[in-house]
Amino acid sequence: MTTYAVTGATGGLGSEAIDALIRRSVAPADIIAVVRDVKKADDLARAGVEVRVADYADRVALEAAFAGVDRLLFVSGSEVGQRLPQHTNVIDAAVSARVGLVAYTSILRADTSPLALAAEHLATEKLLSDSGLPVVLLRNGWYSENYLQSAPAAIESGVLYGSARDGEIAPASRADYAEAAAAALISADGGQVFELAGPQHLSYADIAATFTEVSGSPVRYQDLSESDYAAALVGAGIPAPFADILANSDAGVATGALDSDSTDLVDLLGRPATGFRDVVRHGIVVRP
Ligand SMILES: NC(=O)c1ccc[n+]([C@@H]2O[C@H](COP(=O)([O-])OP(=O)(O)OC[C@H]3O[C@@H](n4cnc5c(N)ncnc54)[C@H](OP(=O)(O)O)[C@@H]3O)[C@@H](O)[C@H]2O)c1
Repeated sequence: MTTYAVTGATGGLGSEAIDALIRRSVAPADIIAVVRDVKKADDLARAGVEVRVADYADRVALEAAFAGVDRLLFVSGSEVGQRLPQHTNVIDAAVSARVGLVAYTSILRADTSPLALAAEHLATEKLLSDSGLPVVLLRNGWYSENYLQSAPAAIESGVLYGSARDGEIAPASRADYAEAAAAALISADGGQVFELAGPQHLSYADIAATFTEVSGSPVRYQDLSESDYAAALVGAGIPAPFADILANSDAGVATGALDSDSTDLVDLLGRPATGFRDVVRHGIVVRP
C-alpha cells in the first residue's frame, strides 16, 4: 500500500489533484490532505480522505503531518515573498519524516525563466535537490483560469489590457495541471522534470478574440507598457506588489517565457488537454 499526501489540499490545485488521485483508483483512505485551516476541509473528510493540519510556517506540525507518507504532492505556497522560509520548512519536515518522494509544483522552465515569480521556485528546486529526497518537478505554465479574472471587465468595456505585446502563451486548465500532477505522483520514481503547458499558442489578441466569441460582445487587446499596466491594475484595486508581479509576468509573455512546445502535460494526461475556449465558456457561465 502506498500512502499519498497533498499539501494546499483546500486550494484549487490541491483539491483537484486529490479528486484526480481518486479517479485514478487511489483509495481515499490512502490519501492524506494537509491543510492549514481544518474548517475548509469538510468536503475532503466526507470523501474519506484523512485530514491533517499544518501551516507551512510550522515545521513540527508538518513533520507530524508527513508521518508515514510515501509520495507527497507539495503545492507551492501562495504567499509570494514568504515562500522560501515556508518551503524550507516543508522540505526539512519531509526529510525528517522520511517521505519517499516529493513532487513540487514549480514554474515553466524555472531554471531560465525571466519572471520575477520564478526566483522562489528555482530556490525551492535547489533546496529539494540538496535535500537528497527523490524529487519530481512539475513545472507548471500559466493557468487558463488566470484570464477569467480580467474577462468580465474586458467584456464589459470591450478592451483587454496587458503588457504582453504580441507574445504567445501556452496556458492549460488548472484541473489539467492537477490531473497531470496526480498522474506523475502515481507513476514517477524521482528525477523527472515535467515542463507542463497546454497545446495552444495564444497571443493576447487571440485571448480577446476568445472573449468576443464566448460573450458575443466585441473585445480587443490594448497593449500597455509594463509600468502603465501595473499602474492600471493598481487603479483597478489590485495591491501594488501583486500588480507588479502580474505586469512583470505579462512582460515575460512578451518574450515567450510562458510559451512551450512541450507535450509533457498531454502525455501525463493520456488525453487531449481542455481547450482555452472551454475554460472561458465554463468560467464565464459559472462566474457571472
Ligand atoms: N501557474 C499559475 O498560473 C498559478 C496561478 C495561481 C497560483 N499558482 C501557484 O500554484 C499554487 C497552487 O495554485 P492554486 O490554484 O491551488 O492556489 P490556491 O487555490 O490559492 O491554493 C493555495 C493553497 O496553498 C495553501 N497555503 C497557502 N499558504 C499556506 C501556508 N502558509 N501553510 C499551509 N498551506 C498554505 C492554501 O491554504 P488555504 O486553502 O487555507 O488558503 C491553499 O490551500 C499557488 O499556491 C501558487 O503558488 C500558480
